[in-house]
Amino acid sequence: MKFSKFGQKFIQPTGISQLMDDLGDALKSDQPVNMLGGGNPAKIAAVNEVFLQTYQALGNDSNASDPDSSAIISMANYSNPQGDAEFIDALVGFFNRHYDWNLSAENIALTNGSQNAFFFLFNLFGGAFSDNKLDEHGQEKKSQSVDKSILLPLAPEYIGYSDVHIDGQHFTAVLPHIDEVTHDGEEGFFKYRVDFEALENLPALKEGRIGAICCSRPTNPTGNVLTDDEMAHLAEIARRYDVPLIIDNAYGMPFPNIIYSDAHLTWDDNTILCFSLSKIGLPGVRTGIIVADPEVIAAVSAMNAVVNLAPTRFGAAIAKPLVQNDRIKQLSDNDIKPFYQQQATLAVRLLKEALSDYPLMIHKPEGAIFFWLWFKDLPITTLELYERLKEKGTLVVPSQFFFPGVDVDNYRHAHECIRMSIAADEQTLTDGIAVIGEVVRELYDKAK
Ligand SMILES: Cc1ncc(COP(=O)(O)O)c(C=O)c1O
Repeated sequence: MKFSKFGQKFIQPTGISQLMDDLGDALKSDQPVNMLGGGNPAKIAAVNEVFLQTYQALGNDSNASDPDSSAIISMANYSNPQGDAEFIDALVGFFNRHYDWNLSAENIALTNGSQNAFFFLFNLFGGAFSDNKLDEHGQEKKSQSVDKSILLPLAPEYIGYSDVHIDGQHFTAVLPHIDEVTHDGEEGFFKYRVDFEALENLPALKEGRIGAICCSRPTNPTGNVLTDDEMAHLAEIARRYDVPLIIDNAYGMPFPNIIYSDAHLTWDDNTILCFSLSKIGLPGVRTGIIVADPEVIAAVSAMNAVVNLAPTRFGAAIAKPLVQNDRIKQLSDNDIKPFYQQQATLAVRLLKEALSDYPLMIHKPEGAIFFWLWFKDLPITTLELYERLKEKGTLVVPSQFFFPGVDVDNYRHAHECIRMSIAADEQTLTDGIAVIGEVVRELYDKAK
């Protein structure tokens, strides 16, 4: 079969597609696997109970012969391309209740998961731009094409951004400052901070070759939460250079609120805030929510129309009542956040026990569902470490894939870290960390 250039771009094997296959195979395998590799959220019984009740109520309250009953409306009609209007209204009410953003329905669009939103947004703001200027007679001058990229102010970043551009990759990333910090009074932790001096001196920024700035907060893979000061600084730079600031809030507040540091969420008309229902425990319903200026919402709705006709209404149907009565926020505050906080405490204890006298550094756990471990001067790359752990039935993700926009061949740190999920049950976490400890201790011991 001959595929177009567009097709080739998507089907070529990448390192990450191989890893994702490994994760998929592990789930199918009959051998026990300590799955610390994927991005699935934990299955929290109290939360699933509420989803199930809502799901059942949706069916019970509906009548097959009544076209206006809620389940029939959701299943049997397309929404408009912007997304389910009642859910959007519920979100407008919710956000205006909890924040002073003064939103209207024109500020919100739905997508089929936030991954779908990033595909749209990165192609809207990254890639070839024609610079259509008018001459003194009001005639369009011959346009010049400018290639713009998405600026990731703090590498490492979410692996899922890497291949979403329809032609090539358009990222410019800034390497982090690495600060050693304490966590709950303990040593052995570090925190990435934005290197604003490097960022402000980027030729691409000064020369108009940046189309948008984007960061995940909390960050997948590290569990970092950029501080309010860092966010305000990024917002100021974005405004100064007349580009939007895209905030990937998949793990952030007010839902799922997997965030333990002191942080606040702000929005203005130059900010594109992306939410997801996935990490509250509904990745299967594929629902992303974009809050942005109406011009961006109109563009996303137009892309929805072409790519999807309309976004799925199933997530909207489940989440609408939970948004209307604030239950989504209560679940996040009372069940989801404490669950991951407990997992983080357990993971720190197990890691410290397993590798107490070894050069393990843990990124300060501030949120999200992952730990980011740095094995300084490890004698092998973490891609090789990943293979050794896989042989022993433990899956993690090596760090080199989390650096879109960075030349990882010339950045050793990008080969010294791993991401491990803390969403697994206690036994899996205990067994998986025991294997990591055993393999890593042996590597450092042999190198002495
Ligand atoms: C930081 C981040 N952004 C976006 C996504 C995409 O999530 P979804 O498409 O399920 O909403 C993920 C999924 O793991 C993520 O970790």
